Amino acid sequence: MTTPRHAEHVCTECGAATPRWMGRCPACGSWGTLILSAPGEIAAAAAPSMQVPVPRSLVELLDTPTVERLATGLPELDRALGGGLVPGSVVLVGGEPGIGKSTLLLQAADRAARDVSVLYVTAEESLAQLARRARRIGVEASNLRSIAETDLERVCAAAERARPRLLVVDSVQTLRDPALAAAAGSVTQVRRAAERLIELARRDGPAVVLVGHVTKDGGLAGPKLLEHVVDAVLSFEGDDRAALRIVRCTKNRFGAVDEVGVFEMTGSGLVDARDVSAGLLAARVPGATGSAVAAVREGRRTLLVEVQALTVSCSSAVPRRNVVGVDAARVALVCAVLERWGGVVLGASDVFVQLVGGLRACDPAVDLAVAVAIASTHAGRAVPVNVAWLGEIGLCGDLRGVAGLDARAAEAARLGFARCVVPASAASGQREASGAIEVVRVARVSDALALARGA
Ligand code: TYD
Ligand code: MG
Repeated sequence: MTTPRHAEHVCTECGAATPRWMGRCPACGSWGTLILSAPGEIAAAAAPSMQVPVPRSLVELLDTPTVERLATGLPELDRALGGGLVPGSVVLVGGEPGIGKSTLLLQAADRAARDVSVLYVTAEESLAQLARRARRIGVEASNLRSIAETDLERVCAAAERARPRLLVVDSVQTLRDPALAAAAGSVTQVRRAAERLIELARRDGPAVVLVGHVTKDGGLAGPKLLEHVVDAVLSFEGDDRAALRIVRCTKNRFGAVDEVGVFEMTGSGLVDARDVSAGLLAARVPGATGSAVAAVREGRRTLLVEVQALTVSCSSAVPRRNVVGVDAARVALVCAVLERWGGVVLGASDVFVQLVGGLRACDPAVDLAVAVAIASTHAGRAVPVNVAWLGEIGLCGDLRGVAGLDARAAEAARLGFARCVVPASAASGQREASGAIEVVRVARVSDALALARGA
């Protein structure tokens, strides 16, 4: 955003500044949103600060004790956060409507309220609606207090008076500062709400959790800028028809971002998922064509997932590549490699690929299972049911090594798989037994396809 230092007109939608009034904002294209900014604001911004910061030696600061984290009491959520919430920090929890964000945070608020005071601000639902959900998930802590409020200033005033250790705001897009003309959910309002709540977190020290909706393309609705200003971003994912929910940390100023928490949605709220791989494979139909099992890494976990594929003759001029749960660009690459190096001609076919169970995997190790599933459906021949397929595919038809191969093979063994096909690292065509599972190393996609055909 440009600071309106010399400018006189500021857009209430995007914050851009222009020297003269215009009907349409030149930055975001909104009509009638430019307003005259108060001269006082400009003067204040230009005034020199009287407090000159004193630079400190970092070495002297090395022994500063780390602040104790606030456990939410939901181990899977704490795991994704890298050990709990940091007091004075602001976390954004994004997810599609209906995925279970309010349920997750009400449960976390209830657990946290057994030890500390918690304020849950519902800006979307009434207290009666919140109470219905509370009854469903069995809220117990009397220390969990709630207000139904959309006015930003009143929310902040309530938090300043109640001094909670955890403040949940559900959602940041429904809060509104009446002093600004823009509508709730607009960039101006969301930015204002974030600024105020970050300021409150830094000053009074509560951990603040903001709920944010995501749009269909996966971005946080409107305020992409929120991701930059908050300390951590969690994304809550899953398929609302399946029970599995994954909370993934995509930004964390206080820890690693490679951890995920896995839950199951039940009739009485979210529970920690126990055997995720077994759950994901439970609905597998033995002997189905177009089905292959991959082992994907989610944080430090390994999950076995079923990849399903279907090819049908092309219904339009351009063949379709319809993908759910895996990266569409990687599926296009796999299709090209299959055609060039695997003898699987897909030019006149629409290809559909999905990961079963609502999981989204960005792990390239899923490539080989995608290739095997597509080749299987195309040939109308089932893949051996007790084999897991692990490996990234290269454009030359080669199979590339993937991280955590031992953990992947171990998970496949635990679930009773007899064999896993993996990329050859040193020697090709080698077979070895690793614990309870036979590990078959292959160098090329074509070798793996031959194994899938039972050759
Ligand atoms: P919700 O937390 O309202 O989602 P969000 O805040 O992300 O919009 O949860 C929505 C869905 O979860 C709704 O379809 C009902 C379901 N649900 C359960 O299956 N079990 C439960 O115990 C609760 C509270 C909700
Ligand atoms: Mg909600």
